[in-house]
Amino acid sequence: MNKLPLLFTGILIAFGASWLGLVAYPVSNLGHLQPLDDEDTAGYFPPSVSGLAVAGQKVYASAGCVYCHSQQVRLDPTSTDIAKKLGVRQTVPRDYIREKTAFLGKRRIGQDLSNVGARISDANALHQYLYEPATVTPWGKMPSYRYLYKTTKVVSQPSADAIQGLKGPHAPPAGYEVIPTEDAKALVAYLLSLNKNYPLPESPEPTAK
Ligand code: HEC
Repeated sequence: MNKLPLLFTGILIAFGASWLGLVAYPVSNLGHLQPLDDEDTAGYFPPSVSGLAVAGQKVYASAGCVYCHSQQVRLDPTSTDIAKKLGVRQTVPRDYIREKTAFLGKRRIGQDLSNVGARISDANALHQYLYEPATVTPWGKMPSYRYLYKTTKVVSQPSADAIQGLKGPHAPPAGYEVIPTEDAKALVAYLLSLNKNYPLPESPEPTAK
């Protein structure tokens, strides 16, 4: 008996069902989402990612940060994200509409970074952390990203870009300084831009229990 038509019908149904579930349904449900035009602050939320931060998104992707850091604040009954101050509210689909690739992540070896720009607002502190996490958390598990930095000899004047405050074994030798590459600067601009503490009507701040 020729079973080819049956086989093709089966393949068609399998692909059709996946297309409906993974493409058509999400697009019809979420495809219409627009930034919120907030009359009180005259701002559009989420704000667009601009300038250096756009390049920083690519560095974030290529450096594999997403393997250890999520970017989604959860509000299910077992989650302690709000109590841990990872954000003031749950993240919702509209938070991601400006992002070409949403770095949701599914593992948290490190903290959720949805709002890291609100927690750490100092570029030098972030450079210190990326250059050598042990300067901040000596027993931490975050790998260092020294390849994003160059140790160079100080010529006449110290550079304004150099990382300040590197101490002990992590300090450069006397007469040298640690300078961020363009990739490091872009990555830090991106991290500083991560702040979802703007209001969205579909995600009110939870009231204290
Ligand atoms: C192998 C897992 C791992 C990878 C990969 C990783 N991190 Fe981390 N990160 C951690 C851990 C664990 C911590 C918590 C502190 C510690 O252990 O040092 C952390 C902490 C941080 C913090 C401090 C957050 C806070 O709220 O204090 C920042 C910022 C950060 N990571 C950024 C990054 C960026 C950017 C990348 C990619 C360039 C990255 N991490 C890659 C594991 C990782």
